[in-house]
Amino acid sequence: MSAPATSALRGMALAKSFRSGRVETRVLQGLSLDIAPGELTLVEGPSGCGKSTLLALLGGLLRPDSGTVQALGVDLWALRPRELERFRLEHTGFVFQGFNLFGALTAVEQVMLPLGYLGLSAAEARTRAQEALAEVGIEDRAQLRPAELSGGEKQRVAIARALAKRPQLLFADEPTSALDAANGQRVIDILHNIARRHGSAVLCVSHDPRLISHGDRVLLMEDGRILTDQRPAPPIRTMPLETPPDTPLLTRLREETAE
Ligand SMILES: Nc1ncnc2c1ncn2[C@@H]1O[C@H](COP(=O)(O)OP(=O)(O)O)[C@@H](O)[C@H]1O
Ligand SMILES: [Mg+2]
Repeated sequence: MSAPATSALRGMALAKSFRSGRVETRVLQGLSLDIAPGELTLVEGPSGCGKSTLLALLGGLLRPDSGTVQALGVDLWALRPRELERFRLEHTGFVFQGFNLFGALTAVEQVMLPLGYLGLSAAEARTRAQEALAEVGIEDRAQLRPAELSGGEKQRVAIARALAKRPQLLFADEPTSALDAANGQRVIDILHNIARRHGSAVLCVSHDPRLISHGDRVLLMEDGRILTDQRPAPPIRTMPLETPPDTPLLTRLREETAE
């Protein structure tokens, strides 16, 4: 069965367990979901519910025990390791909580690095890297190294690095967790704009309930399952991160965030 045109990414009956010693943790037991292009899809849930595992399976970083992932119509886990690596390089971008920048490289060099692997010339890579830095609003920081950048700026460099490849699939794992509210807001707005402007499917997983009103679509996850799948009313973009109304799960998420 091929995925419909409205699906950029589809997980079907995904299962994953981890074993350490004699203890087996079943994280996902047959989870299915579809992610559309041109949208920011948020998966929200408490720590340990399986968000990072889900993102890693969908992004081609971690092989599921069973189930399939169709990414841009390709059966991801049927690819050979080399092909999978190539697919990830060409079509996916990743943004993580810890930024993952190289201490010795300037911002523009960080963004240029994957473009070199894609076969762009140094001049092309530099132009594209500068465009990506401009898109996230830090073109004036291009020559600075991570130690000279704020947390919010570092995360924007990491987003520019993912964005410069022009990936159709962009994955973000807790991209705002190390940031204050204003910078978190900025990062989520940038991810939203990338989905709209470039038509990419952007999947962001987070335990931060402040993000909820900022997704085009929000999936609430608990114990490896999707509990609800909703499209919140669009927030007024100039407002600070809003506090969503109370539900038991959101109350727990809020308590965790406050820790
Ligand atoms: N590599 C691993 N080895 C063993 N257990 C793991 C591993 N990765 C995740 N887990 C366990 O799987 C569960 C889900 O983890 P994770 O997907 O990271 O959740 P979340 O991102 O929602 O916090 C947790 O109980 C975690 O301890
Ligand atoms: Mg996680």
